[in-house]
Amino acid sequence: MSSLDTQTRGRTSRGRLRALDAYLCHAERELLSRRDGPWAHAVFVDVGFGEHPWTTLESAAAFRTLHPELTVIGVELDPERARAAAAHADARTHFREGGFALPLRDDEPARLVRAMNLLRQGPPERVPEVHHTLARFLLPSGLVVEGSADPEGAILTAHLLRRGADADAPPHREALLFHTDFRHGFAPLLFRDWLPRDLRRRVRPGEPIHAFFSEWDAAWREARAAGHTAPRDVFRETAPRLASRTNGVVMDAWLGEQGYLVWKPEGGIRP
Ligand SMILES: C[S@@+](CC[C@H](N)C(=O)[O-])C[C@H]1O[C@@H](n2cnc3c(N)ncnc32)[C@H](O)[C@@H]1O
Repeated sequence: MSSLDTQTRGRTSRGRLRALDAYLCHAERELLSRRDGPWAHAVFVDVGFGEHPWTTLESAAAFRTLHPELTVIGVELDPERARAAAAHADARTHFREGGFALPLRDDEPARLVRAMNLLRQGPPERVPEVHHTLARFLLPSGLVVEGSADPEGAILTAHLLRRGADADAPPHREALLFHTDFRHGFAPLLFRDWLPRDLRRRVRPGEPIHAFFSEWDAAWREARAAGHTAPRDVFRETAPRLASRTNGVVMDAWLGEQGYLVWKPEGGIRP
């Protein structure tokens, strides 16, 4: 355990991260499926899988639709949880005890590192160091996904952090991903309490994330004023209105239909 790791318990419900799996299969198909050069051995790492490794196994099944030989490594700080998960291991699915520094070998580069629902406590100032540590094993263009979801996975937000050419540089804060399955309706402020740890307390005047939410809220009001009322419909109609007010809103029909919004501002998401 390093000084960055703090023991947290917490449960995982099955299906909590399915929407994230679906997003990654849609938007990161090449990252998940490429097998050229070092990518032949590049793994997916799920950090902090919880009491049972359900979400790791669900992601393994989803990503293997694109890459059947993908190696998946579940990592847990809690030694008992890591030991118990070994019952679900197979030739391409491994469970190891470890923290943010990741218990990987040098011949196990990572294509994707996921750390969901781990940073709910702890000082937000430590988050950049955690991101940098999680990115250590990534190949260039590999991705760290770090964020939060409600227990059912109805609402989810995550940082998408991309490794660049320089192995020693922190990953680029490329985008923020928002998802709702509409179980709780839709209004932009629904996401505020589920923002990644370092942004949750930053929705206040003067902060870029506050300006973003203000524009999203205005676009939502416009869509409703134009007669859209069903949550899915309002969500889809809000995205182009937000894109005309704010730079970096990714326009993609599948995202709008399925309840995803990706904000990828030029220069990245400001810390
Ligand atoms: C709330 S559960 C999250 C499970 C799952 N990732 C999810 O999103 O539902 C948090 C788990 O992460 C583990 N954990 C917390 N900090 C960790 C760290 N630094 N490295 C590895 N595992 C960690 C805890 O032991 C716990 O089992």
